[in-house]
Amino acid sequence: MASHFSFTFLLFFCLLFPIIFPSIAKTSSFRPKALLLPVIKDSSTTQYLTQINQKTPLVPVKLTLDLGSEFLWVDCEQGYVSSTYKPARCRSAQCNLANSKACGECFSGPKPGCNNNTCSLFPSNTVTHTSTIGELAQDVVAIRSTDGSNPGRVVSVPNFLFTCGSSFLLEGLASGVKGIAGLGRTKIGLPSQFAAAFSLKRKFAICLSSSTRANGVVFFGDGPYMFLPNKFDISKSLTYTPLFINPVSTAGTSFEGEKSAEYFIGVKSIKINEKAVRFNTSLLSIDSNGIGGTKISTIDPYTVLHTSIYNAVVNAFMKALAKVPRVPAVAPFGLCFRSSNLGSTRVGPPVPAIDLVLQNDKVFWRIFGANSMVQVKKDVLCLGFVDGGVEPTTSIVIGAHQLEDNLLQFDLAYNRLGFSSSLLFTQTTCSNFNFTANA
Ligand SMILES: *[C@@H]1O[C@H](CO)[C@@H](O)[C@H](O)[C@H]1NC(C)=O
Ligand SMILES: *[C@@H]1O[C@H](CO)[C@@H](O)[C@H](O)[C@H]1NC(C)=O
Ligand SMILES: *[C@@H]1O[C@H](CO)[C@@H](O)[C@H](O)[C@H]1NC(C)=O
Repeated sequence: MASHFSFTFLLFFCLLFPIIFPSIAKTSSFRPKALLLPVIKDSSTTQYLTQINQKTPLVPVKLTLDLGSEFLWVDCEQGYVSSTYKPARCRSAQCNLANSKACGECFSGPKPGCNNNTCSLFPSNTVTHTSTIGELAQDVVAIRSTDGSNPGRVVSVPNFLFTCGSSFLLEGLASGVKGIAGLGRTKIGLPSQFAAAFSLKRKFAICLSSSTRANGVVFFGDGPYMFLPNKFDISKSLTYTPLFINPVSTAGTSFEGEKSAEYFIGVKSIKINEKAVRFNTSLLSIDSNGIGGTKISTIDPYTVLHTSIYNAVVNAFMKALAKVPRVPAVAPFGLCFRSSNLGSTRVGPPVPAIDLVLQNDKVFWRIFGANSMVQVKKDVLCLGFVDGGVEPTTSIVIGAHQLEDNLLQFDLAYNRLGFSSSLLFTQTTCSNFNFTANA
């Protein structure tokens, strides 16, 4: 009876949605080289959203993308209906992989998110800094494969691990969003699970579009990462810098002794117009309490600096642009100019370049006007960095505006970040991936 039902349903499903879900390939017969997710910037929240297909029958689930979150979590309280939902039993291999040390009972079930003898994790809304406890579970996830140039066929992972969040945890996320897709460095982050499911290279890349109308992209697996108009393979022109592990969790709630799942890099100094900005550089290393250092975030809309770094950068930038008259600052920014006094170039307004100097003086991440300046209103451009106060956990948080139209590849096997700097130089953008599927 049950199998008959699912067979007719599947048939109906395939007939009705041939475009959305064209033949889901069996993982045994087709081995994708890479996978991809489209990413769109939400205009009202500026969150970066993606969509993944989950559950049986498969439905699209809209999610906020978070580079630093530890795993996928989805609201299981409202509308979670799936015939393939499986809670993770206490002390199972799944709980072990997820590093869960919490085992529990639930009194209002059984239902998705509420079962006895299951292990739990702490799903977190990283926008509002709220977290809760939720059941670890498995369900089917389906995602597009890619050859690096176009989307390919859809492939599925039958037992994808995720955590059940609660409806209240969605507050502050963009409209229609049902959870957070975590790309963090854990064994159950999206990159690790996809790499394990399809024996992909343990690498992924993000390319955020600056437009709210055109998709950027996340690739799981190795390049090529081709962008129009010239089908230029960006994976071939990256600069590399080591990734660092912060020994202390930076998540809202965590188990004792847990490492941070976020991606840290080793900024050694900051230069403006090739001149070093003076500040206390001991803020740039991570101490034994996990304080300090530089991380990358897709949740913070702008780069956030420790007050003493912020003041030094703003002053140096102001001096370097002394000839351009300033206009009153527009919060949250502290330094603004009239756009008509600045003009424009291929890589944005012609302002002093800001270099994040990495492992040595020859390796730096150069931030041009398109990434350093923010158009806050007609004719007003502000330096897009914000003051993080005198006691931030992390001294430099490189925010999303500074990442747009830059491709970043996180290589988990070799512990390194590959970065492209502004794609505008190569006459492309992160919204130039060809999302038309190959016939
Ligand atoms: C879990 O077990 C308790 C008894 O220990 C029971 O009262 C409860 O209904 C059970 N919950 C579920 C979801 O099975
Ligand atoms: C630099 O910062 C570190 C860490 O915050 C602090 O311990 C040290 O005293 C500071 N040094 C100076 C010269 O301000
Ligand atoms: C995008 O890909 C499709 C499918 O391969 C192809 O037909 C189309 O010409 C490509 N578009 C561009 C602008 O190259």
